[in-house]
Amino acid sequence: MSELHAAETSHQRRMDHMYRYQRHVYDLTRKYYLFGRDTLIGELNAGPGISVLEVGCGTGRNLALIGKHFPRARLFGLDISAEMLASAGAKLSRRGRSPAMLRVANATDFDPRLFGETGFDRIVISYSLSMIPDWQGAIDAAIAALNPGGSLHIADFGQQERLPASFRRLLRGWLTRFHVTPRVTLFEVLTERARRNGAQLERRAIGRGYAWLAVYHRPAATAASATNPTVARVHGPVAAVIPA
Ligand SMILES: C[S@@+](CC[C@H](N)C(=O)[O-])C[C@H]1O[C@@H](n2cnc3c(N)ncnc32)[C@H](O)[C@@H]1O
Repeated sequence: MSELHAAETSHQRRMDHMYRYQRHVYDLTRKYYLFGRDTLIGELNAGPGISVLEVGCGTGRNLALIGKHFPRARLFGLDISAEMLASAGAKLSRRGRSPAMLRVANATDFDPRLFGETGFDRIVISYSLSMIPDWQGAIDAAIAALNPGGSLHIADFGQQERLPASFRRLLRGWLTRFHVTPRVTLFEVLTERARRNGAQLERRAIGRGYAWLAVYHRPAATAASATNPTVARVHGPVAAVIPA
C-alpha cells in the first residue's frame, strides 16, 4: 500500500470511528456552533436544474436545507465517512425531501463522473476543510469540478480574530478533541487560486472572526481569462488574521 493510500485509509477510519455514534446527535449539537451555514445556503441562488454538490456533506443537514430553499436544484453529496452518509441517506429519502445522490469519496480526489456529471454549478464545503488533512488539495479538487460560471461556497471556523484570547484558547482546545484545525491561511490560499485562475473571490468574517465565509466564482468564459492575470478580481474585506 502506498504511503498516500495508507494515510487516506487511516483518515477514513478516523472519521468513521468518530462519527459512528456522534452522527445520531450531530445535527442537534452542532446547531449551536457551526455558524454561517444558513447564510451560505441562502446565498446559493440555485434555480431550476442547477447542480449543487456538497463536499463533506456529513448527515445531509445542509443538503436537506438546500432542497427546501431551492426545490428544483439537483442535489449531490460526498463524504469520506460511510457512517455519515448512512444518516444523510436516511434523512434525504424522507417523504417531502428533495432527493440527493450520495457517494463515499475523498474530497481531495473525486471525479464528477462518479455522479454521472461533468461538473457542478455550485459546490459547498461547510466546516469540512478544518477536518481534511490535505485541505488545499480539497480546494483544488473542488475548483477543478466547477462548471464554467459556477461557484464554490465555503464556510468554516475563522481565527476568532476579534474575540477574547481566552475564548480562542478554549475553543481551540475543544476543537482539537474533534480533529478540527481552523485553517489560518484559508483566505490567502483562496486568493492565490483566484488570481491564478482569473476568478473572483468574496470573503468575509462573521461573529468577530468566529467563522469565515468565502465564495469563489469561476468565470463563465475561461479560455482568455485563465491565462491573463490582469483580469483577476479579488475583493471583499480582508479579515485580520491572528496566528494560531
Ligand atoms: C464537521 S463535519 C461537516 C458536515 C456538514 N458539511 C455540515 O456543515 O454540517 C465534516 C465532514 O467532513 C467529512 N470529511 C472529513 N474528511 C473528508 C475527506 N477527506 N473527504 C470527504 N469528506 C471528509 C467528515 O466525514 C464529516 O462528515
